[in-house]
Amino acid sequence: MTEVRGGVILGLETSCDDAAVALVADGQRVLAEAIASQADDFAAWGGVVPEIAARGHVTALPGLIERVLTEARLDLGALTAVAVSAWPGLVGSLVTGVTCAKVLAARLKIPIIAVDHIQAHLAAIHLAATDAGPVSTAPQAITYPLVGLVASGGHSHLYRCRAPGRIELLGGTIDDAAGEAFDKAANALGLDYPGGPAIDRLAEDGDATACVLPRPFLGDGSLRFSFSGLKTALLYHAKGPDGRAPLKLDERGVRNACAGFRAAVVDCLIDKLLLAARREQSRTVAVGGGVACNRDLRRRLGAECRRRGLTLHLPAPRFCADNAAMVAAMGFFQWQRGEIADLGLTPLPTGRAGPRAKH
Ligand code: KG4
Ligand code: ZN
Repeated sequence: MTEVRGGVILGLETSCDDAAVALVADGQRVLAEAIASQADDFAAWGGVVPEIAARGHVTALPGLIERVLTEARLDLGALTAVAVSAWPGLVGSLVTGVTCAKVLAARLKIPIIAVDHIQAHLAAIHLAATDAGPVSTAPQAITYPLVGLVASGGHSHLYRCRAPGRIELLGGTIDDAAGEAFDKAANALGLDYPGGPAIDRLAEDGDATACVLPRPFLGDGSLRFSFSGLKTALLYHAKGPDGRAPLKLDERGVRNACAGFRAAVVDCLIDKLLLAARREQSRTVAVGGGVACNRDLRRRLGAECRRRGLTLHLPAPRFCADNAAMVAAMGFFQWQRGEIADLGLTPLPTGRAGPRAKH
């Protein structure tokens, strides 16, 4: 058996289409992780089908838990607590993870910790494999307060972060989330779901200047994003004014459209994150969520932060997209603070930290 000192947290993540399980020590050392992705199944549907996703998690979870314990050479008795994404998310999917966590907590007599999925995306900056890019510091050197951006399929929000999970909303999208816009834009271009990775890949060989799209609210001094009009502008560029005609772009045109769309979204995300940091007089910024995998965002934000002397924390790409290690990391900090839930825990489809706010 592996000997581990400090809190060993089992993290469960089932808020959407992936079921993920991880064992994390001390909120930063990933001992083992396993994920059952249903992305390929949902590519055929063009998006997540909630009922199918939930049933998939029920099937996947026991095997995933077994797998991480075996990989970490630990048994269930080594667990300090079980942390689970409890909100926000698809409620049927959340229920599977929360129910599993309750069974484990009751059987093992260990605490259950209700984790906010959005807070977990930002807690991912503590995980040890976090990108050691030019401006990232070692995870243990993370100092608060900082300004955090969560850019995912359901959220694009800016937060003032005083400690892991102690966050206050500063601004965010008034319509689509950045990831949602990537997914819809990909659909307009005839690319597979999830669209973010596909657009990012094709954009690498595209020319952004050949498809210049609007950047809503850019430079207006607000902390608002709007991606819905941008997505429609791309649709018109790809299919003409009624948006329903067949795609009128050749392969090069699609690559250029991907590059143009990505550049516009990334410009908005970087501009508002740096504005929020300036307003908050913060020298440290962090980004989490699936869109933080975006290569253009990582490169350009890294360069901007370096130029301004800001410290940037970017989780490694596998800890940006939905994963259970981030849930276990967040759970560790909550466990340390005594923030323990009980067996009456009810998952919530809408979050506490990241509702679609009006700004
Ligand atoms: O955080 P996440 O895995 O799940 C949610 O909490 O929503 O984010 C998923 C979103 C999807 O919309 C996906 O298209 C987007 O993140 N995404 C990306 C990239 N990788 C994933 N968007 C842009 N560029 C990427 N490389
Ligand atoms: Zn997420």
